[in-house]
Amino acid sequence: MQSIRTALVMGAGTMGHGFAQVLAMKGVNVLLVDRTEELLARARTWIIDNLTYMAELGEIGKETIEPTVARISFTTDLKKAAGDADFVLEAVYEDLDLKKRTFAQLDEYTRSTVPLATNTSSFDINELAAVTGHPERVIGTHWFHPPQITPAVEVIPAAATNRETIDCATEFMKRVGKAPTLCKSAPGFVANRIQFAMAAEAFRIIEEGLATPEEVDRIVKSSFGFRLGAYGPCEICDQAGADIYYGVYEYLHRTLKKEHFAPPPILKKLVDEGRLGLKSQGGFYNYKEGAAEALKRQRDRKLYSRLRLFREETETVEGE
Ligand SMILES: NC(=O)c1ccc[n+]([C@@H]2O[C@H](COP(=O)([O-])OP(=O)(O)OC[C@H]3O[C@@H](n4cnc5c(N)ncnc54)[C@H](O)[C@@H]3O)[C@@H](O)[C@H]2O)c1
Repeated sequence: MQSIRTALVMGAGTMGHGFAQVLAMKGVNVLLVDRTEELLARARTWIIDNLTYMAELGEIGKETIEPTVARISFTTDLKKAAGDADFVLEAVYEDLDLKKRTFAQLDEYTRSTVPLATNTSSFDINELAAVTGHPERVIGTHWFHPPQITPAVEVIPAAATNRETIDCATEFMKRVGKAPTLCKSAPGFVANRIQFAMAAEAFRIIEEGLATPEEVDRIVKSSFGFRLGAYGPCEICDQAGADIYYGVYEYLHRTLKKEHFAPPPILKKLVDEGRLGLKSQGGFYNYKEGAAEALKRQRDRKLYSRLRLFREETETVEGE
C-alpha cells in the first residue's frame, strides 16, 4: 500500500473532484484529468470551496487547505498522467462506449500492474475488464455522493480480477478514510438495488395520493431512516422478529396484490427454523445466551446520540 504515492482520477465532475479532494487530504499526490482547462478550473474551485467550508465547520484546520490543493495536478494530458500513476480511479460519464474507450486507453498508457478502478453506477465490470490486456487489474470501486463525505465504497471485482488488485483497492480505500465492502458484480450492486427499491415504493405512494413528497420524506427521516445509520435491515429484522416481518409481508402481499411484497424465501426459512432473531438467540445473526440486554443498551446508546442530532437538525430547519 505504501507504493501508492500518485493516483490518477479521470473525470473531474461531481464525483471525480471529490475523489481528488479525499485522496489529497490523505497525502496522496493526485493527477486530476478532464477534457478542458475550463472543466479543471471548475473542479479546482469546487475543491477549494469544499475545503474552505470544512474549515469553517471545524472539520479541518484552515492551514491544511493550501497544501491539500497543492497535491493535486490538474491536467488534460491523460497519456502523461497515466504513465505516472500507481492507481487509477475512473469517473467519466456513465456511457458504456466512453468507458470502454477509456479503459482501453488506460490499459495502454499505464504500467501493466497498476489497478484500474471504475466508479460506474451500473455497468458490468466484466465488460470493462474485457477491453483491456490485463483484466486481472480491473475493479469497481463504487463511491456515493457526496464522495468527500459519504463513507461507503462498494468494491466490485470482475471475474478475472486477481486477489492482489482486490486487496490493493480495499486497503487503498481504507487508507483514504473510506468504509469499503466487497460485493459481487450484478446490476445495481448492493446499495443501489436497496435504495432504488425503497425510492420506487416512496414514489408509488405519492402517485397513489397517500402522502405528499414532504410527508414521505418526513416520515422516512424520522422512522426507519432515523435508525438506518445505526442498524441495517437484517439487524432491524432480528430485533423486530422474523415472524413479525413475515406476517407483514404476507398481509401486504395479499391485500395490495403486488409481487414485490411476496415474503422472501429466506425469511420463510428463518421462521420455519425458529430463528426469529434476538428473541430466539438467532436470526440473520447468532446471539450468545443473555446477549439481548447488552444489545438493547448498545442500541439505546446509538439511537440516543442520533436523537440528539435529529432534534438539533429539526429545530434548526423549523427555526430557519
Ligand atoms: N453523481 C453521482 O451521484 C454518482 C454516484 C455514484 C457513481 N456515479 C458514477 O460516477 C461516474 C461519474 O459521474 P459524475 O456524476 O461525476 O459525472 P459528471 O458528468 O459530473 O462528470 C463526468 C466528468 O467526466 C469528464 N469526461 C468525460 N469524458 C472524458 C474523457 N474522455 N476524458 C476525461 N474526462 C472526461 C467530463 O468532462 C465530466 O467533467 C459515472 O459513471 C456515474 O455513474 C455517480
